[in-house]
Amino acid sequence: MQFQNTLAFAQQLDANDPLKEFREQFIIPEKDGKKQIYFLGNSLGLQPKRTNDYLQRIMKDWAALGVESFFHAKEPWMDYHDALTPTLSQIVGCKPHELSVMNNLSVNLHLMLVSFYRPQGKRFKILCEAKAFPSDQYMMETHVKHHGYNPEEAIIEIKPREGEHTIRTEDILQIIVQHKEELALVLFGGINYYSGQVFDMKTITHMAQAAGAKAGFDLAHAAGNIELQLHDWNVDFACWCSYKYLNSGPGAVAAVYIHERYHKSEMNRFAGWWGYEKATRFKMEKGFMPIQSAEGWQLGTPAMFMLASHRAALDVVKEAGWENINGKRKLLTAYLWYVLDEVNASQAAPIIEYITPRNETEHGCHVSMNMLQKGKEIYNALMAEGFFVDWREPSVIRLAPVPLYNTFEEVWKFGDALKKILK
Ligand SMILES: Cc1ncc(COP(=O)(O)O)c(C=O)c1O
Repeated sequence: MQFQNTLAFAQQLDANDPLKEFREQFIIPEKDGKKQIYFLGNSLGLQPKRTNDYLQRIMKDWAALGVESFFHAKEPWMDYHDALTPTLSQIVGCKPHELSVMNNLSVNLHLMLVSFYRPQGKRFKILCEAKAFPSDQYMMETHVKHHGYNPEEAIIEIKPREGEHTIRTEDILQIIVQHKEELALVLFGGINYYSGQVFDMKTITHMAQAAGAKAGFDLAHAAGNIELQLHDWNVDFACWCSYKYLNSGPGAVAAVYIHERYHKSEMNRFAGWWGYEKATRFKMEKGFMPIQSAEGWQLGTPAMFMLASHRAALDVVKEAGWENINGKRKLLTAYLWYVLDEVNASQAAPIIEYITPRNETEHGCHVSMNMLQKGKEIYNALMAEGFFVDWREPSVIRLAPVPLYNTFEEVWKFGDALKKILK
């Protein structure tokens, strides 16, 4: 499509948007009665209007039936999570029984490493991206130490080449081959939280497994953002949170994917009673008998309020249609790049260096811009103008127009405001 950097053109794109009604389903933050332009769905997604009702239903069941709600509420709490799995499994591309909605992301990463990081002999190393999210770094460091290894030796971090911002797949593959006798696990973000780079999960998985290692992904910035095919890519495990692109609220319940080939195995794991076979769980007998699905990794009683807010947000996705969301995401992000190019072209010298890769298969809706001059001042001016974007030292502004509630007009306004600020 031939874009134009005009308000009228952006409004025309909004008029043709099959998801245009969905913005109304969210509460957009306001200041002095004016709706703000929220580009921080990569950090905390906005609140769906219906979430309150879903929470109230749990409150009412609790009030009316107390603990009996687990079995006798209109939607019994025992099976409540089953309503989430069809949409969630479509979003991450897996079979419903390969999913378990539980805990938070950092906890789940630990649980997955208990099962999937099983160092033996000289095969004890983990390969990951440099600048992985801090929780992931600390998680790997402490697991490695727990097994008696030195993190300096056991964790191999791969960096972008000198002068580049993102990591080349060929470099990842080369390191996998180089360390093929020593790798126990390859663990990457699906999308790096800083650069916005989408990693080639299919190829990395294939190469890791060919080297005899397991392949896992932290999908915090990928789930609900880009198309994923975890099962078909043969990924061993993955974890993500639901408060970013999945709009389920601060600290909302997270989820894991575990490939079905592990469900019936005698895999090492940390167990809790909620992972015990459902039919006999309440006999409360000795000896752990896991549910033979990803739910066998559950620990304790589900947080019903969190499940309810997650369900509310997933029901919005279901109604909008996951394909439509992806279609709009690609168009909206392409329009953002176009508008940013126009901003650069309007300056005597470019002001924005893109950190996020430009190729459509290598980014989601998050774009990281390295500001070549006066980055912090530009960021402060954008915030003062009502644009929610974020700042990462030393000079990076991140923003993510989200297809469910952001508009083409907002993207155009962003470019317009940036130009005015630069003047
Ligand atoms: C990539 C990534 N991994 C892990 C985490 C930690 O998630 P949580 O605080 O929900 O455990 C985050 C949080 O933003 C993240 O962005």
